[in-house]
Amino acid sequence: MVRTKICNNLQETYEYARDFAMQLAPGTVVALYGGLGAGKTAFTQGVALALGVEEPVTSPTYALWQTYQGDLVLHHFDLYRLDTPQQVFSIGFEDAINSDAVTLIEWPERLEDYIPVPRVEVYIDRIDEEKRSICIQEIL
Ligand SMILES: Nc1ncnc2c1ncn2[C@@H]1O[C@H](COP(=O)(O)OP(=O)(O)OP(=O)(O)O)[C@@H](O)[C@H]1O
Ligand SMILES: [Mg+2]
Repeated sequence: MVRTKICNNLQETYEYARDFAMQLAPGTVVALYGGLGAGKTAFTQGVALALGVEEPVTSPTYALWQTYQGDLVLHHFDLYRLDTPQQVFSIGFEDAINSDAVTLIEWPERLEDYIPVPRVEVYIDRIDEEKRSICIQEIL
């Protein structure tokens, strides 16, 4: 199934991410596609809110991986600075994705074919300063 929504501002993106998160089963892996500043971290923040994460979700440039505790555990990978897939495997990527946590991955392109199936793909396109087109697709 593919669904696409236009989010006219940041608030609408948070709300869309929240609605999406309500339907997430434990163990789901979500690959977030979109260029710099598209809104991948913003979408993750909306998901985190819905999962009851109270800590602010950030995008530290130095960390590839952050874990947050909510009603479910949330793993947030930002692979922008990943050089080789081995780098993320050596810090426990497989344990993270094979758990009951929800895993969101920014820049999944960096992992080439290593993102597992089934997964959910989220494509965020910047239309203008505030408007985003967000397409969600399940890959089974
Ligand atoms: N509708 C919207 N949805 C998401 N972000 C929006 C929207 N409108 C404006 N923005 C702004 O766009 C920026 C999105 O930044 P964000 O860090 O989420 O991007 P990103 O895709 O994670 O980028 P990066 O690849 O650098 O990690 C924020 O400054 C946010 O306030
Ligand atoms: Mg980001």
